[in-house]
Amino acid sequence: MQVRRLLAGAYRRNGKPMLAPPLDAAFSDRLVGDLANNGFAVLHNAIIPNLIDRLVADCRKREEAGEMDRAAIGRDNHHIRETRIRQVDAAWLDGSADGEAAFLALAEHLRIAINRRLFLGLFEFEAQFLTYPPGGFYKRHLDSLRGERNRIVSLVLYLNKGWQMSDGGELDIWNTNDDASVPAITVQPHAGTLVLMLSEEIPHAVRPSRATRRGIAGWFRVNTSTSDRIDPAL
Ligand code: OGA
Ligand code: MN
Repeated sequence: MQVRRLLAGAYRRNGKPMLAPPLDAAFSDRLVGDLANNGFAVLHNAIIPNLIDRLVADCRKREEAGEMDRAAIGRDNHHIRETRIRQVDAAWLDGSADGEAAFLALAEHLRIAINRRLFLGLFEFEAQFLTYPPGGFYKRHLDSLRGERNRIVSLVLYLNKGWQMSDGGELDIWNTNDDASVPAITVQPHAGTLVLMLSEEIPHAVRPSRATRRGIAGWFRVNTSTSDRIDPAL
């Protein structure tokens, strides 16, 4: 069982706080401003290429070790229904590799920036590596059901260098729950592109991919646990 929950502020290696990778203040201001105004934000080249390379290596290591698990996404009794909604392999980040730890430090900076500006009281962050095999997809969905107050802000970071238009796998984002509407934006999953979305409000979908498509999906959450009810991780 991997560590799924990473408490805010706990991103340390060998007892030392990790140095955050650069996400400059102007970038994070723009991201948080767009999130507040539109419900989503997209930033290209948000992450230094060196960190992308480390994250790709970490993700591939998980794949090669057989640690990516399609069943890990849904609970068992939901599994058959789940495979019609999404076909993607996933593994939780636990911060044990350098790239993961640096990425989690960056997410922690974003968590603080979002709370400072939007007063969302985001408490923790959890994230998965996602590997879509050729033919993989994720149909239109919300990351969190309204009222559950669980996942509040979703983050996606893409890890695909040299992605071609013909590879498909675009992320469609809608700014309304009206099924008939056209997407507000369509994002190519190029390495370094970072997306934020309000988890309860912004429907999104991954079009079928024709190549192996890697990324990280993460969720900033509020703590809804009470003394007699432990908040489930999914
Ligand atoms: C998700 C998700 C988007 C992507 O994991 O919930 O919407 O581009 N991922 O992989
Ligand atoms: Mn999603």
